[in-house]
Amino acid sequence: MVKLFFLRKGFMTLILGLEGTAWNLSAAVVSEERVIYEAESTYKPLHGGIHPREAAQHHSSELKSVVSRALRGAEGEGYSLEEIDAIAFSQGPGMGPCLRTVATAARALSISLKKPLIGVNHCIAHIEVGRWRCGTKDPVVLYVSGANSQVLAYRSGRYRILGETLDIGIGNALDKFARYLGLSHPGGPKIEELASKGTKYVYMPYVVKGMDLSFSGLTTAAKDAFDSHPEEKADICHSFQETAFAMLTEVTERAMAHCCKDDMLLAGGVGANRRLRQMLQTMCRDRGARFYVPETKYLKDNGAMIAYLGLLMLKSGDTTPIEKSEVKPNYRPDDVEVTWRAVE
Ligand code: ATP
Ligand code: FE2
Repeated sequence: MVKLFFLRKGFMTLILGLEGTAWNLSAAVVSEERVIYEAESTYKPLHGGIHPREAAQHHSSELKSVVSRALRGAEGEGYSLEEIDAIAFSQGPGMGPCLRTVATAARALSISLKKPLIGVNHCIAHIEVGRWRCGTKDPVVLYVSGANSQVLAYRSGRYRILGETLDIGIGNALDKFARYLGLSHPGGPKIEELASKGTKYVYMPYVVKGMDLSFSGLTTAAKDAFDSHPEEKADICHSFQETAFAMLTEVTERAMAHCCKDDMLLAGGVGANRRLRQMLQTMCRDRGARFYVPETKYLKDNGAMIAYLGLLMLKSGDTTPIEKSEVKPNYRPDDVEVTWRAVE
């Protein structure tokens, strides 16, 4: 870590953040007070799931336009390019080709604008933007997205992973099953829609091992159930959701009990699901705990969360020299030394 003390006294800190770990390319300018402007461009696979090289190709052809739109938008709000204090980017985890494309752009901007570079962990950015938007200080976090499903809590300078998926993320499980049903990517919202029409519970494997979870057997069971009874599509979607979300709620509740924490924060794209929110909300209410979820645009991948974590890191003097800015496709949140929170 390099300590730099160059923040302009009495001025707001402004960060340009770049996100492009998978399907969404996004750039945002953020201050301590607000998201000043955000621009994005979404990669939509023609068929099947996300193809890493195609997504990277999308990001590379859209980068110039997305960054220019974010900067022009910030200018429209009265903030000039010269006022940007640092460039933050998603260093990982994510798809290698996508990460490399965005990191290259971030390095080029950092060098040409002579502003420090800040490599941020994408998972922790999901958490910090949620804490910021919801005003929760020290929550147990359920982070559920395409590639990730983790329960985390902060302790002694790190976000500790208390439980996680042993195979695929819940979002990928939903997307895979949706693809099997012939639905386009992303499948999560389409499964939610179908599930709302289901009533009957079809047996699905409930796999919780200690604090960890597994979703691949569940996905296979849902495919098998559909092969046997295609007419029960809505019931199978309902049962898939009920089982997977009950597993997630169980592990989250145990983490809250073990850590004696009374706040719970939902993060990641799957957090948009109304049934998941309802289950977590009920669990929190029954425990006398508080349930927090940010606006949907801050649940899914977005540049603002990268810029905001960059801002926290810059203010604690935590920047990334170019020679240490290599991308980390398997970057885990507990690899990160949290420099911006008091050690509790
Ligand atoms: P990460 O790199 O953090 O894993 P990601 O690339 O998967 O992020 P996110 O935007 O955090 O991106 O999450 C996308 C996932 O969220 C997809 O799997 C998508 O199907 C799922 N999703 C979005 N809306 C819903 C919904 N309403 N119900 C269930 N899943 C949803
Ligand atoms: Fe994400």
